[in-house]
Amino acid sequence: MGLFRGLSQIGSTFCVFYVLGLILNQALICHGGTTSNFVREVEKSIDMPLDSDVFSVPPGYNAPQQVHITQGDHEGKAMIVSWVTMEEPGSDKVVYWREKSKDKRSAKGKMSKYKYHNYTSGYIHHCTLRNLKYDTKYYYEVGVGQTPRTFWFKTPPKVGPDVPYTFGLIGDLGQSYDSNSTLTHYEQNPVKGQAVLFVGDLSYADNYPNHDNRRWDSWARFVERSVAYQPWIWTAGNHEIDFAPEIGETKPFKPFKNRYRTPYRASNSTAPFWYSIKRGPAYIIVLSTYSAYGKYTPQYKWLEEELPKVDRSETPWLIVLVHSPWYNSYNYHYMEGESMRVMYEPWFVEHKVDIVFAGHVHAYERSKRISNIGYTIVNGECRPVEDQSAPVYITIGDGGNLEGLATNMTQPQPFYSAFREASFGHAILDIKNRTHAFYSWHRNQDGSAVKADSMWFFNRFWHPVAETSSAVI
Ligand SMILES: [Fe+2]
Repeated sequence: MGLFRGLSQIGSTFCVFYVLGLILNQALICHGGTTSNFVREVEKSIDMPLDSDVFSVPPGYNAPQQVHITQGDHEGKAMIVSWVTMEEPGSDKVVYWREKSKDKRSAKGKMSKYKYHNYTSGYIHHCTLRNLKYDTKYYYEVGVGQTPRTFWFKTPPKVGPDVPYTFGLIGDLGQSYDSNSTLTHYEQNPVKGQAVLFVGDLSYADNYPNHDNRRWDSWARFVERSVAYQPWIWTAGNHEIDFAPEIGETKPFKPFKNRYRTPYRASNSTAPFWYSIKRGPAYIIVLSTYSAYGKYTPQYKWLEEELPKVDRSETPWLIVLVHSPWYNSYNYHYMEGESMRVMYEPWFVEHKVDIVFAGHVHAYERSKRISNIGYTIVNGECRPVEDQSAPVYITIGDGGNLEGLATNMTQPQPFYSAFREASFGHAILDIKNRTHAFYSWHRNQDGSAVKADSMWFFNRFWHPVAETSSAVI
């Protein structure tokens, strides 16, 4: 009995020290930011069935469907209009006119089809409207002479340092019920996005047997309600690769390339997966995680020449989109972006990139301003450090696709991770002028005006002082 009591006293003393040790250990080792304590019901994300109303085919013979637009040049004075007809090619013309103007113009597009295993696409049309006026509302009509459908868009303001502009940010969207919540939430946000920066992984058709390409069609019908009215700027993700030699499909990106256009030639790129655009006060560089990026490759040479071209007195905000994140503290796709980071991060610091947006990890995370470019193989300096010339890295792969949330995080939270939370949502980057932009992330569970994470960004060229963030949890 006495021995037992003695042992139990030793045991409880040990426990106290052990717990104290754990607390001290946390205090000394974990200098991380905030891991949100927001608790949600974890449910499986399920794709909406093909007969859902959000996928409905527009009425009328050979009616144009899957209408979408994206920027068509480098400056924002052109728009690429794309649509699909199912029964027959139909007209490849787009008729367009300025609001309150009777001066109707038309542009002629091109039509193509593709086959993927046992699937044959509809008639895919792409038509570029050029020489548009800045800051102007245009109406446009497709299905000319048969079953016309009319949409509208607003062109961006003339490229310049102090024109305000608001971007939406969506990634890894898919076509589940959660995807629908994300898109609805984005549409309902009182701060209206004028264009979406989409960080890759569109339809997730490749999760179906034989990459069922009907899911590419349904996805395009689902998002038409937004992307027919404002341009989405496309980044290619791993779900766009569709490389499936087991069913004879050996051309990477076949469905994506046929369905989605990018204005890559306007920025002297040689492939549609990496390119740049100017839009209002922003210079957007889109990179491809799934194209070669090592030294001497086309993407490497392009980016090396591209970054020095950015004139911050014309476009103060330098933003990069890439699919796989370089800084990610979730246990999903961990370090997949590492080799690209090693190749390009020194350039990003040298050229003072403001923000890098990525997707791929189905959760949300925002980093501090950090870099990890000191390593020279011999010096052993290989850890991220705070760096006011470096970008903030934001993972926004939380669009809500059928693969579900990434909920498992590395512990403890690394110091460079400012805020992380596994919820579906979208973000808004509201650029005010050359120095300030207000950024907010919105989880789907809240009202659309609620900011679950936010910060004022200070421009790295014009106002390179440290920011503070206000994570709301
Ligand atoms: Fe991905």
